[in-house]
Amino acid sequence: MKTLIVYDSVFGNTEQIAQAISNSLGPKEHVETLRVHDVKIEKITGLDLLIVGSPTRGFRPTKAITNFLKRIPSNGLKGVKVAAFDTRISLSDIKSSVLRTIVKIGGYAARSIANRLKKNGGNLTMPPEGFLVTGEKGPLKKGEIERAADWAKLVIKE
Ligand SMILES: Cc1cc2nc3c(=O)[nH]c(=O)nc-3n(C[C@H](O)[C@H](O)[C@H](O)COP(=O)(O)O)c2cc1C
Repeated sequence: MKTLIVYDSVFGNTEQIAQAISNSLGPKEHVETLRVHDVKIEKITGLDLLIVGSPTRGFRPTKAITNFLKRIPSNGLKGVKVAAFDTRISLSDIKSSVLRTIVKIGGYAARSIANRLKKNGGNLTMPPEGFLVTGEKGPLKKGEIERAADWAKLVIKE
């Protein structure tokens, strides 16, 4: 199974999750893990599985991830399994209840990544997933690396 993991990361937390996902997959998955800035769009040709992850910034993926998704031709992911993840602030770590409500209502990057991947023909294997950080710059909440590794196993099982 030819697998590509594309991620963006400003403070390094999403990168840690992408690496955990990558490490969790076996040699059979032939995984390549690339930061979005290093991905040429030709890379998606011939893939069996594409996993895309981004920090949630203003309820959305980063600009670089959005631009990458826009560069995928329509139906360019036909027959390809896809999955999406993000990192996001844990609601329990937001002190202001107003801000908590805004963040909750605003939504998260993984859902819009997943929608875009599906729009381009991809078969979503698992619901979009979010991994939690404890503050604006991180760090990741305890146990999130392990949860990412478990999630990756489910993605390839489906
Ligand atoms: C400008 C900015 C906007 C953010 N917007 C959101 C948001 O809308 N929702 C959320 O849950 N977290 C938000 N965060 C927290 C980020 O999700 C957090 O910085 C990210 O998970 C860290 O990942 P990274 O280390 O890979 O950059 C924001 C952080 C910054 C700096």
